[in-house]
Amino acid sequence: MKKLSSSAIAHPNIALIKYWGNKNQVLRIPVNGSISFNLDSLFTKTQVTFISELPSDILFINGHETSGSGLDRVVSFLNFVRELAGKQIFAQVNSENNFPVGTGIASSASAFAALSLAASNAIGLNLSEKELSCLARRGSGSASRSIPEGFVEWFPGETHSDSFAVSIAPSTHWDLVDLVAVVTHEHKKVGSTAGHKLANTSPLQSARVEDTKRRLDIVREAIKYRDFQAMAEMVELDSNMMHAVMMTSSPTLMYWEKSSITIMKNVQKWRASGIPVCYTMDAGPNVHVITTKDYSEEIHQKLSSISGIKKIFTAAVGGKARLIDN
Ligand code: DP6
Repeated sequence: MKKLSSSAIAHPNIALIKYWGNKNQVLRIPVNGSISFNLDSLFTKTQVTFISELPSDILFINGHETSGSGLDRVVSFLNFVRELAGKQIFAQVNSENNFPVGTGIASSASAFAALSLAASNAIGLNLSEKELSCLARRGSGSASRSIPEGFVEWFPGETHSDSFAVSIAPSTHWDLVDLVAVVTHEHKKVGSTAGHKLANTSPLQSARVEDTKRRLDIVREAIKYRDFQAMAEMVELDSNMMHAVMMTSSPTLMYWEKSSITIMKNVQKWRASGIPVCYTMDAGPNVHVITTKDYSEEIHQKLSSISGIKKIFTAAVGGKARLIDN
Protein backbone atom coordinates (compact mmCIF):
# COMPACT_ATOMS: atom_id res chain seq x y z
CA MET A 1 0.00 0.00 0.00
CA LYS A 2 1.43 3.38 -1.04
CA LYS A 3 1.32 6.09 1.65
CA LEU A 4 2.40 9.71 1.33
CA SER A 5 2.21 11.56 4.64
CA SER A 6 3.13 14.98 6.13
CA SER A 7 2.13 17.03 9.16
CA ALA A 8 2.04 20.79 9.59
CA ILE A 9 1.13 23.36 12.17
CA ALA A 10 -0.34 26.83 11.56
CA HIS A 11 -1.66 29.64 13.73
CA PRO A 12 -4.90 31.55 13.31
CA ASN A 13 -4.49 35.28 12.74
CA ILE A 14 -6.30 38.39 13.85
CA ALA A 15 -7.00 40.96 11.15
CA LEU A 16 -6.19 44.58 12.00
CA ILE A 17 -7.65 45.60 8.63
CA LYS A 18 -10.38 43.18 7.64
CA TYR A 19 -11.18 41.08 4.60
CA TRP A 20 -14.93 41.35 3.95
CA GLY A 21 -16.37 40.60 0.51
CA ASN A 22 -14.96 38.93 -2.62
CA LYS A 23 -14.57 40.02 -6.25
CA ASN A 24 -14.47 36.35 -7.13
CA GLN A 25 -16.23 34.10 -4.64
CA VAL A 26 -14.94 30.80 -6.11
CA LEU A 27 -11.29 31.87 -6.16
CA ARG A 28 -11.68 33.95 -2.99
CA ILE A 29 -10.20 37.10 -4.54
CA PRO A 30 -11.08 39.78 -1.97
CA VAL A 31 -12.39 43.25 -2.76
CA ASN A 32 -9.76 44.82 -0.49
CA GLY A 33 -6.36 44.14 1.01
CA SER A 34 -5.98 43.22 4.67
CA ILE A 35 -3.35 43.18 7.44
CA SER A 36 -3.11 40.73 10.34
CA PHE A 37 -0.80 39.09 12.82
CA ASN A 38 -0.53 35.41 13.70
CA LEU A 39 -1.55 34.20 17.17
CA ASP A 40 1.25 32.10 18.63
CA SER A 41 -0.41 30.12 21.43
CA LEU A 42 -3.37 29.01 19.28
CA PHE A 43 -2.82 26.48 16.53
CA THR A 44 -4.16 23.82 14.22
CA LYS A 45 -2.06 20.68 13.76
CA THR A 46 -2.88 18.66 10.67
CA GLN A 47 -1.63 15.36 9.33
CA VAL A 48 -2.44 14.44 5.73
CA THR A 49 -1.86 10.89 4.48
CA PHE A 50 -2.60 10.05 0.84
CA ILE A 51 -3.31 6.33 0.63
CA SER A 52 -3.67 4.53 -2.72
CA GLU A 53 -6.38 2.13 -1.42
CA LEU A 54 -8.72 4.82 -0.03
CA PRO A 55 -12.02 5.07 -1.98
CA SER A 56 -12.61 8.71 -0.86
CA ASP A 57 -11.21 11.40 1.44
CA ILE A 58 -11.82 11.05 5.18
CA LEU A 59 -11.58 13.81 7.77
CA PHE A 60 -11.10 13.65 11.54
CA ILE A 61 -11.36 16.87 13.55
CA ASN A 62 -10.16 16.60 17.13
CA GLY A 63 -10.43 12.79 16.85
CA HIS A 64 -14.02 12.71 15.53
CA GLU A 65 -14.83 11.62 11.99
CA THR A 66 -16.50 14.56 10.25
CA SER A 67 -18.98 14.52 7.34
CA GLY A 68 -21.31 17.09 5.77
CA SER A 69 -20.24 20.60 4.82
CA GLY A 70 -16.94 20.43 6.77
CA LEU A 71 -15.85 17.37 4.79
CA ASP A 72 -17.16 18.82 1.49
CA ARG A 73 -15.02 21.92 1.92
CA VAL A 74 -11.89 19.82 2.58
CA VAL A 75 -12.66 17.51 -0.38
CA SER A 76 -13.00 20.49 -2.78
CA PHE A 77 -9.72 21.81 -1.47
CA LEU A 78 -7.97 18.43 -1.87
CA ASN A 79 -9.37 18.20 -5.43
CA PHE A 80 -7.51 21.38 -6.17
CA VAL A 81 -4.29 19.98 -4.62
CA ARG A 82 -4.70 16.74 -6.65
CA GLU A 83 -5.21 18.77 -9.83
CA LEU A 84 -2.03 20.77 -9.13
CA ALA A 85 -0.05 17.57 -8.51
CA GLY A 86 -1.65 15.62 -11.36
CA LYS A 87 -2.33 12.71 -9.00
CA GLN A 88 -5.66 11.00 -8.33
CA ILE A 89 -5.24 9.68 -4.79
CA PHE A 90 -7.45 10.16 -1.72
CA ALA A 91 -6.35 11.22 1.74
CA GLN A 92 -7.00 10.77 5.42
CA VAL A 93 -6.83 14.14 7.18
CA ASN A 94 -6.44 14.38 10.96
CA SER A 95 -6.79 17.91 12.27
CA GLU A 96 -6.62 19.18 15.84
CA ASN A 97 -7.28 22.67 17.19
CA ASN A 98 -6.35 23.83 20.66
CA PHE A 99 -9.12 26.47 20.66
CA PRO A 100 -12.92 26.44 20.06
CA VAL A 101 -14.12 26.72 16.47
CA GLY A 102 -16.88 28.92 15.09
CA THR A 103 -16.86 31.70 17.65
CA GLY A 104 -14.87 34.45 16.02
CA ILE A 105 -11.38 33.00 16.32
CA ALA A 106 -10.59 32.24 12.70
CA SER A 107 -10.24 28.46 12.86
CA SER A 108 -10.60 28.19 9.07
CA ALA A 109 -7.44 30.30 8.69
CA SER A 110 -5.15 28.00 10.67
CA ALA A 111 -7.01 24.91 9.40
CA PHE A 112 -6.51 25.63 5.69
CA ALA A 113 -2.99 27.00 6.18
CA ALA A 114 -1.92 23.78 7.95
CA LEU A 115 -3.83 21.66 5.40
CA SER A 116 -2.18 23.48 2.46
CA LEU A 117 1.28 22.85 3.76
CA ALA A 118 0.72 19.24 4.89
CA ALA A 119 -1.25 18.20 1.78
CA SER A 120 1.04 19.86 -0.78
CA ASN A 121 4.13 18.42 0.89
CA ALA A 122 2.64 14.93 1.24
CA ILE A 123 1.63 14.76 -2.42
CA GLY A 124 5.09 15.86 -3.52
CA LEU A 125 4.51 19.49 -4.52
CA ASN A 126 7.32 21.73 -3.45
CA LEU A 127 5.54 25.09 -3.24
CA SER A 128 7.07 28.50 -2.52
CA GLU A 129 5.60 30.59 0.31
CA LYS A 130 3.73 32.68 -2.25
CA GLU A 131 2.26 29.59 -3.93
CA LEU A 132 1.29 28.17 -0.53
CA SER A 133 -0.45 31.42 0.39
CA CYS A 134 -2.40 31.33 -2.92
CA LEU A 135 -3.31 27.69 -2.29
CA ALA A 136 -4.42 28.30 1.31
CA ARG A 137 -6.60 31.20 0.08
CA ARG A 138 -8.66 28.74 -2.02
CA GLY A 139 -9.67 26.97 1.22
CA SER A 140 -10.32 30.11 3.26
CA GLY A 141 -9.37 33.66 2.36
CA SER A 142 -7.86 34.49 5.73
CA ALA A 143 -5.77 31.27 5.57
CA SER A 144 -3.56 33.01 2.99
CA ARG A 145 -2.43 35.24 5.89
CA SER A 146 -1.59 32.30 8.19
CA ILE A 147 1.18 31.05 5.87
CA PRO A 148 3.81 33.83 6.30
CA GLU A 149 5.53 34.87 9.52
CA GLY A 150 4.46 37.48 12.11
CA PHE A 151 2.74 40.59 10.77
CA VAL A 152 1.22 39.90 7.36
CA GLU A 153 -0.38 41.79 4.46
CA TRP A 154 -2.61 40.13 1.85
CA PHE A 155 -2.56 41.88 -1.53
CA PRO A 156 -5.96 41.35 -3.13
CA GLY A 157 -4.73 40.88 -6.73
CA GLU A 158 -6.97 39.92 -9.64
CA THR A 159 -6.20 36.27 -10.39
CA HIS A 160 -5.39 33.07 -8.50
CA SER A 161 -1.63 33.54 -8.73
CA ASP A 162 -1.44 37.21 -7.72
CA SER A 163 -3.71 37.14 -4.64
CA PHE A 164 -1.40 36.19 -1.78
CA ALA A 165 -0.02 37.38 1.54
CA VAL A 166 3.51 38.30 2.60
CA SER A 167 5.19 39.00 5.91
CA ILE A 168 5.65 42.75 6.52
CA ALA A 169 7.46 42.29 9.87
CA PRO A 170 8.69 39.28 11.86
CA SER A 171 6.94 38.19 15.05
CA THR A 172 9.80 39.64 17.11
CA HIS A 173 9.25 43.13 15.64
CA TRP A 174 6.62 44.26 18.17
CA ASP A 175 5.52 42.53 21.37
CA LEU A 176 1.77 42.87 20.85
CA VAL A 177 -0.58 40.56 22.72
CA ASP A 178 -4.12 39.57 21.71
CA LEU A 179 -6.39 38.78 24.66
CA VAL A 180 -9.37 37.01 23.12
CA ALA A 181 -12.38 37.58 25.38
CA VAL A 182 -14.76 34.71 24.69
CA VAL A 183 -18.33 35.73 25.50
CA THR A 184 -20.09 32.67 24.11
CA HIS A 185 -19.07 29.16 23.11
CA GLU A 186 -22.11 28.85 20.85
CA HIS A 187 -21.40 28.08 17.20
CA LYS A 188 -22.14 31.20 15.14
CA LYS A 189 -25.23 31.05 12.94
CA VAL A 190 -23.83 32.71 9.82
CA GLY A 191 -20.20 31.98 9.02
CA SER A 192 -17.77 34.13 7.06
CA THR A 193 -18.25 32.40 3.70
CA ALA A 194 -21.99 33.17 3.71
CA GLY A 195 -21.23 36.63 5.14
CA HIS A 196 -18.83 37.63 2.34
CA LYS A 197 -21.62 36.98 -0.17
CA LEU A 198 -23.87 39.47 1.62
CA ALA A 199 -21.32 42.29 1.83
CA ASN A 200 -22.51 43.96 -1.38
CA THR A 201 -26.10 44.09 -0.18
CA SER A 202 -25.03 46.81 2.28
CA PRO A 203 -25.03 50.39 0.93
CA LEU A 204 -22.03 50.99 3.23
CA GLN A 205 -19.74 48.37 1.64
CA SER A 206 -18.58 50.58 -1.25
CA ALA A 207 -17.62 53.39 1.15
CA ARG A 208 -15.74 50.91 3.35
CA VAL A 209 -13.83 49.49 0.38
CA GLU A 210 -13.08 52.92 -1.10
CA ASP A 211 -11.44 54.03 2.16
CA THR A 212 -9.41 50.83 2.68
CA LYS A 213 -6.15 52.00 1.09
CA ARG A 214 -5.97 54.85 3.60
CA ARG A 215 -6.51 52.53 6.55
CA LEU A 216 -4.01 49.98 5.21
CA ASP A 217 -1.36 52.68 4.74
CA ILE A 218 -1.83 53.99 8.29
CA VAL A 219 -1.75 50.54 9.91
CA ARG A 220 1.27 49.41 7.83
CA GLU A 221 3.17 52.54 8.94
CA ALA A 222 1.99 52.18 12.55
CA ILE A 223 3.35 48.62 12.62
CA LYS A 224 6.64 49.74 11.07
CA TYR A 225 7.16 52.46 13.73
CA ARG A 226 5.39 50.58 16.56
CA ASP A 227 2.97 53.50 16.91
CA PHE A 228 0.21 52.00 19.07
CA GLN A 229 -2.06 55.03 19.16
CA ALA A 230 -2.15 55.40 15.36
CA MET A 231 -2.76 51.68 14.97
CA ALA A 232 -5.47 51.58 17.66
CA GLU A 233 -7.65 54.24 16.07
CA MET A 234 -7.58 52.59 12.63
CA VAL A 235 -8.07 49.06 13.98
CA GLU A 236 -11.21 50.06 15.88
CA LEU A 237 -12.50 52.12 12.96
CA ASP A 238 -11.92 49.22 10.57
CA SER A 239 -13.71 46.73 12.84
CA ASN A 240 -16.61 49.15 13.32
CA MET A 241 -16.84 49.74 9.56
CA MET A 242 -16.97 46.01 8.83
CA HIS A 243 -19.63 45.46 11.49
CA ALA A 244 -21.60 48.45 10.15
CA VAL A 245 -21.60 46.68 6.76
CA MET A 246 -22.66 43.43 8.43
CA MET A 247 -25.47 45.10 10.36
CA THR A 248 -26.76 46.87 7.23
CA SER A 249 -26.64 43.80 4.95
CA SER A 250 -29.78 41.92 3.91
CA PRO A 251 -30.38 39.78 5.76
CA THR A 252 -28.73 41.67 8.59
CA LEU A 253 -25.76 40.14 10.39
CA MET A 254 -25.56 41.19 14.01
CA TYR A 255 -22.64 39.55 15.82
CA TRP A 256 -22.41 41.90 18.81
CA GLU A 257 -23.67 40.66 22.16
CA LYS A 258 -24.30 42.82 25.23
CA SER A 259 -20.95 41.82 26.74
CA SER A 260 -19.11 42.53 23.45
CA ILE A 261 -20.28 46.15 23.71
CA THR A 262 -19.35 46.38 27.40
CA ILE A 263 -15.83 45.17 26.58
CA MET A 264 -15.40 47.60 23.66
CA LYS A 265 -16.54 50.57 25.79
CA ASN A 266 -14.17 49.61 28.60
CA VAL A 267 -11.25 49.24 26.19
CA GLN A 268 -11.83 52.79 24.94
CA LYS A 269 -11.96 54.03 28.52
CA TRP A 270 -8.69 52.24 29.39
CA ARG A 271 -6.98 53.69 26.31
CA ALA A 272 -8.17 57.20 27.24
CA SER A 273 -6.44 56.67 30.61
CA GLY A 274 -3.12 56.12 28.80
CA ILE A 275 -2.95 52.31 28.38
CA PRO A 276 -2.03 51.05 24.88
CA VAL A 277 -5.08 48.90 24.18
CA CYS A 278 -7.64 48.56 21.38
CA TYR A 279 -10.37 46.15 20.27
CA THR A 280 -11.35 44.37 17.10
CA MET A 281 -14.09 41.81 16.35
CA ASP A 282 -14.38 39.21 13.58
CA ALA A 283 -17.53 37.39 12.43
CA GLY A 284 -18.54 36.42 15.95
CA PRO A 285 -19.34 37.95 19.34
CA ASN A 286 -15.88 37.52 20.90
CA VAL A 287 -13.72 40.58 21.32
CA HIS A 288 -10.01 40.60 20.51
CA VAL A 289 -8.38 43.02 22.92
CA ILE A 290 -4.94 44.01 21.67
CA THR A 291 -2.30 45.46 23.94
CA THR A 292 1.46 45.21 24.52
CA LYS A 293 3.27 42.61 26.62
CA ASP A 294 3.91 45.13 29.43
CA TYR A 295 0.19 45.73 29.90
CA SER A 296 -1.19 42.28 29.12
CA GLU A 297 -1.49 41.15 32.75
CA GLU A 298 -3.19 44.36 33.81
CA ILE A 299 -5.65 44.15 30.91
CA HIS A 300 -6.24 40.47 31.62
CA GLN A 301 -7.17 41.37 35.20
CA LYS A 302 -9.43 44.20 34.10
CA LEU A 303 -11.18 41.93 31.59
CA SER A 304 -11.61 39.21 34.21
CA SER A 305 -13.75 41.56 36.30
CA ILE A 306 -16.25 42.12 33.47
CA SER A 307 -19.23 39.80 33.82
CA GLY A 308 -20.17 37.71 30.79
CA ILE A 309 -16.64 36.76 29.78
CA LYS A 310 -16.42 32.94 29.73
CA LYS A 311 -12.73 32.59 28.97
CA ILE A 312 -9.74 34.65 27.89
CA PHE A 313 -7.11 33.30 25.47
CA THR A 314 -3.76 35.07 25.47
CA ALA A 315 -1.62 35.08 22.33
CA ALA A 316 1.55 36.92 21.34
CA VAL A 317 2.56 37.43 17.70
CA GLY A 318 3.15 34.04 16.09
CA GLY A 319 5.35 32.50 13.42
CA LYS A 320 4.63 31.04 10.03
CA ALA A 321 2.99 27.76 9.04
CA ARG A 322 5.58 24.98 9.28
CA LEU A 323 6.07 21.27 8.74
CA ILE A 324 6.46 19.14 11.85
CA ASP A 325 7.52 15.54 12.45
CA ASN A 326 4.82 13.09 11.47
C1 DP6 B 1 -14.28 38.75 9.64
O1 DP6 B 1 -11.40 33.89 5.71
O2 DP6 B 1 -13.12 33.13 7.38
O3 DP6 B 1 -12.48 37.24 10.05
O4 DP6 B 1 -12.75 32.94 2.83
O5 DP6 B 1 -15.08 32.34 3.37
O6 DP6 B 1 -13.21 31.24 4.62
P1 DP6 B 1 -13.70 32.48 3.91
O7 DP6 B 1 -13.78 33.62 5.00
P2 DP6 B 1 -12.79 33.95 6.18
O8 DP6 B 1 -13.19 35.46 6.46
C2 DP6 B 1 -12.60 36.18 7.49
C3 DP6 B 1 -13.44 37.34 7.82
C4 DP6 B 1 -13.02 38.10 9.07
C5 DP6 B 1 -12.04 39.22 8.74
C6 DP6 B 1 -10.61 38.82 8.46
O9 DP6 B 1 -10.10 37.86 9.08
O10 DP6 B 1 -9.98 39.52 7.68
